[in-house]
Amino acid sequence: MDVPQHQRFKLLGLSGSLRRAANSTAILRTLKAGLTPDVVMEIVALDDIPPYNEDTDVGEGPAGVAALRRAVIACDAIVIVSPEYNHGIPGHLKNAIDWASRPGYDGPLKSKPVKIMTIATSPLGGARAQAWLNEVFAATLSRVVPGKQVVIGGVGQKVQDGRLVHEDTLIFALNAIDDLLDEACLVQGRPKRVIPADWQRRKLDKPPR
Ligand SMILES: Cc1cc2nc3c(=O)[nH]c(=O)nc-3n(C[C@H](O)[C@H](O)[C@H](O)COP(=O)(O)O)c2cc1C
Repeated sequence: MDVPQHQRFKLLGLSGSLRRAANSTAILRTLKAGLTPDVVMEIVALDDIPPYNEDTDVGEGPAGVAALRRAVIACDAIVIVSPEYNHGIPGHLKNAIDWASRPGYDGPLKSKPVKIMTIATSPLGGARAQAWLNEVFAATLSRVVPGKQVVIGGVGQKVQDGRLVHEDTLIFALNAIDDLLDEACLVQGRPKRVIPADWQRRKLDKPPR
């Protein structure tokens, strides 16, 4: 089905892990592949973002930062999939958020809808990193989508061969992206997104185990 331009959505996917075989990035890629035809996702790697330094935060900033900021501005909403590092946010992800947050209270992240998803090999699923990310995004004036938290524990079993193979977890996360797009419509004053019957997927009210 051809989707008219004004009914399309562009997501920015950010992974909280830099490693090549990261579960976080594998989940982002699986989500991207599972999106309905009205939605595209660009995954931007955070490898080229230097540590935040106000001295170099002039003009567009360093090349990697400029690219990130452009991607944030161009997207309708952001999906973050991140592991928990030592009960908190991986340093480079926090650093990238810091760059995208400037100028303070008026940076590219302002009013941008964000869905936070955390993962861990432990059963806790990065719940503490999720709480930290909520706190950090609050300072950027972005709009973290409230409601069901996507917290994926035991990720070692759920990701195989670079794909999220745990069906209920995938459906739950894709449901959360539908909520994220509703928030994007609200923020932009667009009519509510209508999902044609043949694109509908089942809804999960409870986080899967
Ligand atoms: C530096 C470091 C710190 C970690 N700290 C935690 C932690 O606090 N809680 C937790 O559940 N898992 C922790 N883990 C395990 C991660 O959940 C696991 O390695 C995960 O798969 C990393 O995500 P990735 O596959 O996307 O790289 C840690 C891993 C690393 C490398």
